[in-house]
Amino acid sequence: MTNAKIYDIKPAIASNAHITQPIYQNMYQRSIAEPDVFWAEQATLFLNWQKPWHTVMDCDYSRGHIRWFEGGLLNVSENCLDRHLAERSDQVAIIWEGDDPTRDKKITYRELHQQVCQFANVLKAQGVSKGDCVCIYLPMIAEAAVVMLACTRIGSVHSIVFGGFSAEALKDRILDSNCQYVVCADIGYRGGKTTVIKANVDQAALGCPNLKSVIVIKNSDTDVAWFNGRDIWYHVAMQNASDHCPAVAMAAEDPLFILYTSGSTGKPKGVLHSTGGYLLYAAMTHKYVFDYHDGDIYWCTADIGWITGHSYMIYGPLCNGATTVLFEGVPTYPEADRFWRIIDKHQINIFYTAPTAIRALMAQGNDFVTRTNRSSLRILGSVGEPINPEAWEWYYHVVGDARCPVVDTWWQTETGGIMITPLPGAMALKPGSASLPFFGVKPEILDNQGNSLQGIAEGVLALSRSWPGQARSIYGDHQRFIDTYFKSYAGYYFTGDGVRRDEDGYYWITGRVDDVINVSGHRMGTAEIESALVLHTHVAEAAVVGYPHDIKGQGIYAFVTLNAGVQASEQLSKELVNLVRQEIGAIASPDIIQWTPALPKTRSGKIMRRILRKVAANELNGLGDTSTLADPSVVDNIIAHRVNK
Ligand code: WT7
Repeated sequence: MTNAKIYDIKPAIASNAHITQPIYQNMYQRSIAEPDVFWAEQATLFLNWQKPWHTVMDCDYSRGHIRWFEGGLLNVSENCLDRHLAERSDQVAIIWEGDDPTRDKKITYRELHQQVCQFANVLKAQGVSKGDCVCIYLPMIAEAAVVMLACTRIGSVHSIVFGGFSAEALKDRILDSNCQYVVCADIGYRGGKTTVIKANVDQAALGCPNLKSVIVIKNSDTDVAWFNGRDIWYHVAMQNASDHCPAVAMAAEDPLFILYTSGSTGKPKGVLHSTGGYLLYAAMTHKYVFDYHDGDIYWCTADIGWITGHSYMIYGPLCNGATTVLFEGVPTYPEADRFWRIIDKHQINIFYTAPTAIRALMAQGNDFVTRTNRSSLRILGSVGEPINPEAWEWYYHVVGDARCPVVDTWWQTETGGIMITPLPGAMALKPGSASLPFFGVKPEILDNQGNSLQGIAEGVLALSRSWPGQARSIYGDHQRFIDTYFKSYAGYYFTGDGVRRDEDGYYWITGRVDDVINVSGHRMGTAEIESALVLHTHVAEAAVVGYPHDIKGQGIYAFVTLNAGVQASEQLSKELVNLVRQEIGAIASPDIIQWTPALPKTRSGKIMRRILRKVAANELNGLGDTSTLADPSVVDNIIAHRVNK
């Protein structure tokens, strides 16, 4: 397939860009030919080290052994705050924009540094020490940044749980990472509604016997249940805390944070990132991918509960001394022009969001966009799922007035930072393509036998080189880390994505090749949703697949078999949706439930998901080989009762 649409590099961008086409070619080549020299240079350029490393890289994929900058000592909060104080203590570090458009605040680097030191002392007073894990369960309030950086200041490891996850999901994550401390808020605000936070923590805590303290940020006048001896108000503790707190010297390979993400099997895994390599990779990609310049106002619309919120709202931008925007709300509240109003209000230059938001806003019509100015914008970014060319063109023409390059950034929780992406001053753009690899990244397209395909090709995406931002392990289960990422294709990191390379060497991500689905940019394991569904006493079996959804990218389609004698009903359907919300969270609610007397299985009892995926996608002509089915009539029945929505 050739894609005719190409947007050339813009001279106005290239003339002032950090990375132009010849610089990219030269640097990329060096990053592959002499990785040790290249990364040592970058690590010196981007970070302050308390002690230099002795070994740049030491990696062996067969053991899942990944080490960068060993021997080096540094502190993340020192790199994100202290070192900026001499030059930019009065510069705004964080612009916080409330869900309520009349509420906002600005925090300078001096103020942020002060609050981080204070909260680090609060954590210490609670008994938190280096290596301890702190669970953060917060809405998008500015204190989230304070808490994250305070953890890094004393070497504790944060595990942020997305505020939209249920009490049950929170409990699982607290237990898995052995957290004895939780930082939360009383409630959260989103789209004019409130979300319960503290009540979820209280419920989760019932199953967490090792929990020592819960630090609560007061975000409202709502009364919340209180457990003396365990619960502490953030604002009270902060009043008495000193704002002097030395930054602990951390080894480059000391753990920085755990972040849970879904895989194709089993329960969510705690992806572990470490200190030096991660911070370098986040800072470097932030600067080059968004062509960040001093003074730019930068806004990433992600939530801190996801990796994008870690790398591109907090660590990358603050390490580079940027002004970063934290938005509490949603794109459509109070109206569908909220993003564009915020861009005008804060004169935002760089804007990074997700295809699902772009599609949802596109569906609201152009007026919401065109009635705003947006002339401050210079660079637009997209992340989370493949962006369909139609949404890309709308983003480019309507939002960016054909003036701003769109960087479609492919990466994952496990990669720590952006891996395949256009660099705005260096690459022509093709709508729908993540384009070319970042420095040091070597994408490989593999066939089923694990052969690396050259030239124009399609297959699974793997990476043959390590890069500093790569995850180091799955918390508490290193064997699972090896099995998941390094076993399928020896010598490679396996991404789980499919990909195509075109005649210009551009990469086109085609989506997951495993049982992971991507709903509104949220990664979900179909197995997790199935486990929740079968908890219902009336459910015998369930199989969940993704199907194409106009706004969400993929929707959740559940095929459910009830126990003998149980009647399907609207009521039962509601109960199942509620069960999933209770076990995981609203983001995992099935969009469609189809009752079926049986699931299509092979003679050995394996569910044939390939067929279910086709039925859900309404691709009924291409069901493929069904001869291995134990009972082919099951498929006819499923097709006959397919639910259209
Ligand atoms: C999966 C990773 C990376 C931060 C947000 C998601 C899909 C992500 C793109 C893109 C096509 C993309 C992949 C990937 N994905 N960005 N630009 N084009 N697909 O992180 O939750 O770890 O999900 O999201 O399928 O494997 P995540």
